[in-house]
Amino acid sequence: MPANKKSGCCGRGGRFYAGPKLVIMVAHPDDVQHILVTSRLVERDPLTTSAMWPFVGDGLLTLNGSRWKTHRKLINPTFHSELLENFLEAFHEGGLYVSERLASDSAGGAAPADVHAAALFGAMRSFCSAAAGTDPDRLIPDLPEHEASTAIRRVMALIQTMMVRPWRRSLSLLRLTSEGRAILKYYAHLRKGVEEAIALRSAATEEGPAKTRRRLLETLVKPGGETALPVSEVRDELVTMTLTATDTTAVCISYALALLALHPEWQDAARRELKDVFCEGDDYLRAPSLAELASLRVLESIIKETLRLFPVVPMLPRMVREEIWLSKGRVPVPKGAMLFVTPFLTHRLPEFFPDPLKFDPSRFLEGRSGEEHPCSYLPFGLGSRNCVGSQYARLEIKVFLATVLRRLRFLPHSRWEDLEHALLTITLHTIKPIEVYCVPLQESGL
Ligand code: HEM
Repeated sequence: MPANKKSGCCGRGGRFYAGPKLVIMVAHPDDVQHILVTSRLVERDPLTTSAMWPFVGDGLLTLNGSRWKTHRKLINPTFHSELLENFLEAFHEGGLYVSERLASDSAGGAAPADVHAAALFGAMRSFCSAAAGTDPDRLIPDLPEHEASTAIRRVMALIQTMMVRPWRRSLSLLRLTSEGRAILKYYAHLRKGVEEAIALRSAATEEGPAKTRRRLLETLVKPGGETALPVSEVRDELVTMTLTATDTTAVCISYALALLALHPEWQDAARRELKDVFCEGDDYLRAPSLAELASLRVLESIIKETLRLFPVVPMLPRMVREEIWLSKGRVPVPKGAMLFVTPFLTHRLPEFFPDPLKFDPSRFLEGRSGEEHPCSYLPFGLGSRNCVGSQYARLEIKVFLATVLRRLRFLPHSRWEDLEHALLTITLHTIKPIEVYCVPLQESGL
C-alpha cells in the first residue's frame, strides 16, 4: 500500500481484510510493546512468508518455529559486535565505490544520479568481503546496476500483490511477462553468486587459524563441503542474507542523501563534523577507525532521523496464534488474525515526535526523541525477531555516508513528495527512484 495519505489507514493504525483474513495495523508503542516484548509474538504470518518464499526460499525471513531458531542461533554470532572492526575495510571499499559511481553517474553534477542503484552494488561489494571473505568481483551479479535496482523495486511491489492475490505466486506466470523475466534474471544471478561462494569455500582444504568468531560463509560451510544446515537451506539463507544486507542499507542511504540535499544546513553540519574529526590535510579522506566513527554524533543523529521518517522495514508482520488484547485490554485480536506492527506509523505519532514530518536530527542529538516510551522508536525491530544485522547496518551506513560526504556535495532532485510516495512492503521503496545531483567537493568550492 502507498505510504502517503491515500493508504486510508489512520495515524494510529487500522484494520482491513485480505480475503477472509483480518489484518490489523498497530502503531501505538504500548501495543508494540505488548506484541513484540511482553507477548513475544515471533512468528511471521503465512500470508507474508508464502509471498516471500518464491524469492528467498527457506531462510530467516520465511521460517518459523524450531527451524527459524536453528538458523538464528547459527547466524547471530556471525554479526556479533566483536567482528565489526574486521568489517571496516570492506565498508570503506564499498563507500569508495558508491562515491565513484555517484560522481560518474552525475557527470560532475550535470545530471541526477540514482542513489539506490549505486549504493546497492557498494553494499554488495562490502557484503561479499565482510560476510563471505571473498573477492567481490567473483560474486557480484554481472548485470547493469539500474537493472538490479529496478528488479528489487519490482519484487517488493510484487510481494505486496502476492500477499493478497495468492494466484500471482506462480513462477510460471511470472515468466510470461517481461517484468517477471527481469526479476527472475536478477535472482538467477544472485543464486549463481551464492553457489559460487559455496563452491569456493567447499574447495578449501583447511579451516585456517582457530578463531572465536567466524564469518557467515565460514559458519555455514566447512572446507571440504560439509554444511551446518541442509545444503538447500544454506543456499537460501545466503540469498536471504545477501538481499537483506544490501537492499536495506541502499534504501537508507538513498533517503539520507535525498534528505541532506533538501536540508543543506544539516549537510553542512555533517561536513563540519567530518572536518573536525578527520582534520583537513593529506589524509582527510582516509578509512575511518571505530573511534572516529563513534565521535560522529551529528552523522549518527542524521541516520537516526532518516530511519525515523523512513523506516526501511516499515511493517513487521506477526501471526496471532492465541487471542490477545490490545489498547490496554479494550480491543480483542482473534486467533488467526494477522498483525502488522508498523514503525512507519509509530515513528510519526506527534505525542512522541512533535512536528513529526519535520526532518530534525537534533531530536536525537539532544537525546530527547522517543524517551517517553521505550517502544516508540524501533527501526531495527524489537524482541528476539529483531534485525540480525542491526550493528552491521548502522556501521556500514555511517562509513558509506562519511565516505561520500567527504568527497561530494549533494543537491536535490527528488522532492519531499517523491520520498513520501512509496510502497509500504517488505522494505520501503519509492515509486520513482531517488535521485540527487552529486558535485565533487573541489568543484563546488567547499
Ligand atoms: C537500515 C538497515 C536495516 C534496517 C532498518 C533493518 C530493519 C529490520 C527489522 C525492523 C527487522 C525485523 C523484522 C520483524 O520483526 O519482522 C529486520 C529483520 C532482519 N534483518 Fe534487518 N535491517 C537492516 C539491515 C540489515 C542488514 C545489513 C542485514 C544483514 C546483514 C539484515 C538482516 C536481517 C534479517 C536476516 C532479518 C530477519 C531476522 C529474523 O527473522 O530472525 N538487516 N531488519
